[in-house]
Amino acid sequence: MNKRSTIRIKNLLMISLVIFCTSCFRANDTENTEVKSGDFFKESQIKLKVDSLLALMTIDEKIGQLVLYSSTLDVTGPSINEDYLLAVTSGMCGGIFNAFTVEYTTQLQKAAVEQTRLGIPLFIGYDVIHGYKTIFPTPIAGASTWDVEMVEKASRIAATEATAAGINWIFAPIADISRDPRWGRITEGSGEDPYLGSCMVAAKVRGIQGNDLSLENTALACLKHFAGYGAPVAGRDYNTVEISMKVLIEEYLPPYKAAIDAGVATVMTSFSDLFGVPATCNNYLLTELLREQWGFNGFVVSDYESVMHLLNHGVAVNEIEATERSFTAGLDMDMQSGFYERNLKTLINEGKISENTLDISVGKILEMKFSLGLFDDPYKYCNSDRERSEILSSGHLKFAREMAKRSLVLLKNASLSGQDNNILPLKKQKIALIGPLANEKRQLLGSWICEGNEEGMLSIYDAFKEEYGLGNVTFTKGCEIKGTDKSGFSEAIQKAKQADVIVMVLGESFEMAGEAASRSSINLPGEQTELLKELKALAKPIVTVLINGRPLTIAKEVELSDAVIEAWHPGTEGAHAIVDVISGKYNPSGKLPVSFPRNIGQVPIYYNYKTTGRPFNEDDKYTTKYLDVENTPLFPFGYGLSYSTFEYSNLKLARSVIKMDESLKISVNVKNTGRYDGEEIVQLYTRDMVGSTTRPVKELKGFKKVFIKKGEETSVTFSLKPEQLFYLKSDQKWGVEEGEFKVFVGSNSTDFLSESFWIVNQN
Ligand code: BGC
Repeated sequence: MNKRSTIRIKNLLMISLVIFCTSCFRANDTENTEVKSGDFFKESQIKLKVDSLLALMTIDEKIGQLVLYSSTLDVTGPSINEDYLLAVTSGMCGGIFNAFTVEYTTQLQKAAVEQTRLGIPLFIGYDVIHGYKTIFPTPIAGASTWDVEMVEKASRIAATEATAAGINWIFAPIADISRDPRWGRITEGSGEDPYLGSCMVAAKVRGIQGNDLSLENTALACLKHFAGYGAPVAGRDYNTVEISMKVLIEEYLPPYKAAIDAGVATVMTSFSDLFGVPATCNNYLLTELLREQWGFNGFVVSDYESVMHLLNHGVAVNEIEATERSFTAGLDMDMQSGFYERNLKTLINEGKISENTLDISVGKILEMKFSLGLFDDPYKYCNSDRERSEILSSGHLKFAREMAKRSLVLLKNASLSGQDNNILPLKKQKIALIGPLANEKRQLLGSWICEGNEEGMLSIYDAFKEEYGLGNVTFTKGCEIKGTDKSGFSEAIQKAKQADVIVMVLGESFEMAGEAASRSSINLPGEQTELLKELKALAKPIVTVLINGRPLTIAKEVELSDAVIEAWHPGTEGAHAIVDVISGKYNPSGKLPVSFPRNIGQVPIYYNYKTTGRPFNEDDKYTTKYLDVENTPLFPFGYGLSYSTFEYSNLKLARSVIKMDESLKISVNVKNTGRYDGEEIVQLYTRDMVGSTTRPVKELKGFKKVFIKKGEETSVTFSLKPEQLFYLKSDQKWGVEEGEFKVFVGSNSTDFLSESFWIVNQN
């Protein structure tokens, strides 16, 4: 008998067992008419299939399902297992990541399906962080839209493109709250706030997974990096994490929990440790919290070689111990270290891990493969028609432009001297476009861009010529992003002299943000600020556009500029979006999801700080402050200007006292008092005036984006429930005590109207 027919017979055997079990269930089901839920039926069917498959598997085959290797198509970590294909064909691998395109993923699936005894298809994973080929603004920029539906749709499109290229598992969303802009990966998250972060993360899970995992355009999402990865000491990537349990629970965990509640299928551990135990072998995180308290039913994967890292962390003496610690803590799948492949069997033979426990992990992985429909059709994501027609489609590009426009944050827009007009939007005039990022394309995309590239993209210079006319726009770099070369200054000055307005495009390169890209200084690098200073001497209006991955210390640059736009890394359609805003085709509405410090010494700085026992008072020496800088950030959380102005009035709380089971209606009037129609993001914050443990001075509890025509007024309402005010009380319980609460409603975390209400216990 040849190998193929053996495989076919084995597959038939497996399939008939699966069908048998399924029909048994059906027979029972018709007798038990109460079992009606479609989901329940589907889940039970899958369970039966998983159990029948597990019964056929050898220990080696089971271990193989817990192993994940990177292909060589993309590199996202320090080492590659060149034998990953061998691992696939020998059944010692349940998934491959960094693999994409229909052609390549078909080959991989074929190897798994046709060359292994049971033909179990592979997970194909990839970091589709902000788009697959149509690249959307980076996650921190996406969060600046404060537009949950938009963020969900971007993830839907990203998943549609990725699944059209063979991918069935997406390593997103990133739920890591970060208060430290030195950390390069702040660009991959949604900023500093647990509530905004939760909204963004849940939207991404919905976008990636949709309502039905068995469709050809949905994929498994992977929540990462569990947990607390965004708080490395001193902002240095991979560094140890030191936060209290209270801070973990109140500030860092909510977005992870929101993803679990949104039904995320998989979770990736963090590289870092927490309370002295690396996340990858942290029983509290992976078992007590994730599964027992939060009821997570999917599987947990390590980060890149993080099982191996247990040796470096100094918590395991050898591979065997690292494997045992990770597996018993609740880590189902080993990414890239090969430790599970090499050591799990020994641990089972020695009785240190039971086959039963192994079956639980393998079962979860098989369950996901069944949910995806991979057993029905291992090639369902390998559809070259979809790959051709759905990737980088005009609809996707159009949406990317819409989103990028809304992710731009207008930080400053001074009025021109002697006029009541602000400098932006810019009318048709002579423009000198200057700066190292003004004629770049790749730089606009940011880090983690999968198949994204310059194809079809415009640079900001191109987009300016398109909008303002070839003859009206000149470009020169002036200097590089980094380095000390000032030889381009004189040409920049010459060009600027001939223009009516100078538009500077400054910032960081995409390599300066993202993984392994922490910075100890978050100034504009190189000679960019010097260039700006020299141009300022020409006394012409200056508009500065910033392209960067993190909050930067830009006090000087803001002072030197008449207008400043934070454009982040805005993606494939970024150049169009920037010009849409500068020209006034779109009235900016983005708001910062993170505070911008005045200087690096203020870091970490965040809006939801605690008041302390000696709150700042400028007349009192013995209060919390610096001698050399204010306590406040340069730009606060939630800040962002519009070409219009919005006036808030009539903040009303429907009641002044509510009980624990009641909710409070809050309303406010917002009037567009400017000269442009525009969108405003109305923000609701609260403060618990007295708690059994210390409480932040402000916490975001809601937001609404409203479009208001110039001169018109609208009423915005929120509903607030006491459970939204829960926190970790002194009795270590999650709850809220009765007492006074303040409500703040306004256009950012420092500009608001305020009222008070009381919560009372039932009587
Ligand atoms: C990153 C993860 C990523 C993984 C696989 C790691 O270095 O921390 O976010 O998913 O690589 O590419």
